[in-house]
Amino acid sequence: MSLPVPTMARPPVGVVGLGQLGGSLAAALVAAGREVRGWDVDPAAREAAAARGVRVTRELAGVVVLAVPLPDTAAALDGIDVDPAATVTDVGSVKEPVLATVGAALGGRFVGGHPMAGTERSGHAATDPALFRGARWALCLEPGTELPRWLRAAEVVLDAGAEVVPVTAAEHDAAVAAVSHVPHLLAAALAAAAGEAGPLALALAAGSFRDGTRVAGSDPAFVTAMVEGNAGPTAAALDRVLAQLRRPWPELVAAGHGVRTADPGRRTVRVPLDRVALLALGRAGGAVTRRLAAFVEGWVPQP
Ligand SMILES: NC(=O)c1ccc[n+]([C@@H]2O[C@H](COP(=O)([O-])OP(=O)(O)OC[C@H]3O[C@@H](n4cnc5c(N)ncnc54)[C@H](O)[C@@H]3O)[C@@H](O)[C@H]2O)c1
Repeated sequence: MSLPVPTMARPPVGVVGLGQLGGSLAAALVAAGREVRGWDVDPAAREAAAARGVRVTRELAGVVVLAVPLPDTAAALDGIDVDPAATVTDVGSVKEPVLATVGAALGGRFVGGHPMAGTERSGHAATDPALFRGARWALCLEPGTELPRWLRAAEVVLDAGAEVVPVTAAEHDAAVAAVSHVPHLLAAALAAAAGEAGPLALALAAGSFRDGTRVAGSDPAFVTAMVEGNAGPTAAALDRVLAQLRRPWPELVAAGHGVRTADPGRRTVRVPLDRVALLALGRAGGAVTRRLAAFVEGWVPQP
């Protein structure tokens, strides 16, 4: 019989950047009983994290999570004293550029990650310990990723309340271009076009405009770093959207409705601790929900 990995054995977690993502992760992990240390260049963010039970220090060990703005990720460990045995992961919205910088410097010790959670707010005031509950969190399994470190990072994600989607950085970047980066551009385009339509149009804007443009309220620097950091896949995904817009409207509306309302259900699966099997789970649209000693438990969409 396989038993869950005991919580006692879990290493400390160090979070660099205690803003919306890092502050929320630190708070969720404190609530889950993990030892959490953290650092932020902003004293107000450090103070807020300390009030939530985070030990503020630059000496980090165990699993170290980089949660700084994307352009600052490559230099995030400058001035931080990281245990040489630590596993390092990140939460950046694009994975190939982080793999090329942090990953190249750390080799198999680095596990790229991306939680599919967050709001248009930013900074430590946007901290929400429930931010990751039930969310998908992509964790990169490259050929050089050390599997025991990937599993340690996965345990952190599971303790934060999220589900782990095993991916490669390239697959991740192509997928999120379609479901995150293009939606940010479309939200900006919708909002800009409505602005040109004038004050009457904006006065009459209601639910569909609010939902379609919500992320246009995000910090422009954050969105720009994200789409420019994933320019190739985002341009390709945008071309597919433009091709859809050229279809006859009834056909387009029916196709979109079909995808948005499909509910395939879920089937529980057990997956061996093996890179190929874990990546197959991610490609099938599934996720890991529990780590056990000899395998992980998760689900795939019901065929
Ligand atoms: N906001 C989202 O919706 C979202 C979703 C998924 C992933 N992400 C990714 O999460 C990361 C952080 O985003 P966020 O929304 O939490 O940003 P944020 O602005 O809320 O927080 C970033 C924090 O990092 C701190 N910081 C900056 N440089 C630092 C450094 N060198 N050392 C220590 N602290 C530093 C800032 O002071 C700030 O507190 C980004 O890489 C982003 O791509 C964001």
